[in-house]
Amino acid sequence: MDFLVRHADPSDAEQLTLLADAVSAEPEGWLISIAGEWRSAGDERRFLKALRRYAHAAVFVAEREDGTLVGRLSVGRDPHPASTHVADVGLMVALDARRQGVGKALLQAAVDWGREAGVRKLELHVFPWNEAAIALYDAFGFEREGYRKRHYRRGGEFVDAILMAYEVE
Ligand SMILES: CC(C)(COP(=O)(O)OP(=O)(O)OC[C@H]1O[C@@H](n2cnc3c(N)ncnc32)[C@H](O)[C@@H]1OP(=O)(O)O)[C@@H](O)C(=O)NCCC(=O)NCCS
Repeated sequence: MDFLVRHADPSDAEQLTLLADAVSAEPEGWLISIAGEWRSAGDERRFLKALRRYAHAAVFVAEREDGTLVGRLSVGRDPHPASTHVADVGLMVALDARRQGVGKALLQAAVDWGREAGVRKLELHVFPWNEAAIALYDAFGFEREGYRKRHYRRGGEFVDAILMAYEVE
């Protein structure tokens, strides 16, 4: 599969909302487990538009040759003044586009963006049972930094998460 990685455009909002709804419907991976809990296409469009004028966060997409968006990565600088060198990452890849290097390419885009933005460290949370994501982050060079007990509310329960981080050189 040929794809390119680029900055998201407000006109991507519709497709990205569908992608998020599809990934949210999978039980294992994503933080938001109820379709429709993710922001609406209108909210996503406004968010992507606002990002154009905001230097501290970015959204990247992976676009297949036929124009289908098969991946989304968001990266945003920590707002605390003592940790502005840290940025948080969120990542999703369409089910039918996995194991083809999309996740890795999007992470590389986050690293490159971080380097330009003066970010020294990327961090993310991953569910302990999300083997695919952990394998990707391990292979990419992320390290485990902590274990967050009952850190997220998901549906009606509190669930644990592993904190992982990557040093941007
Ligand atoms: C996790 C996720 C983003 C991985 O994306 P991807 O595009 O399939 O990952 P890549 O193809 O770039 O994988 C790169 C490497 O990561 C590892 N990897 C990825 N998925 C794996 C899996 N299911 N099992 C084992 N290793 C895996 C492999 O080392 C792989 O290299 P290889 O295919 O040459 O063996 C994707 O599965 C996904 O979107 N899952 C649902 C949402 C989610 O969990 N997001 C992360 C939340 S923290």
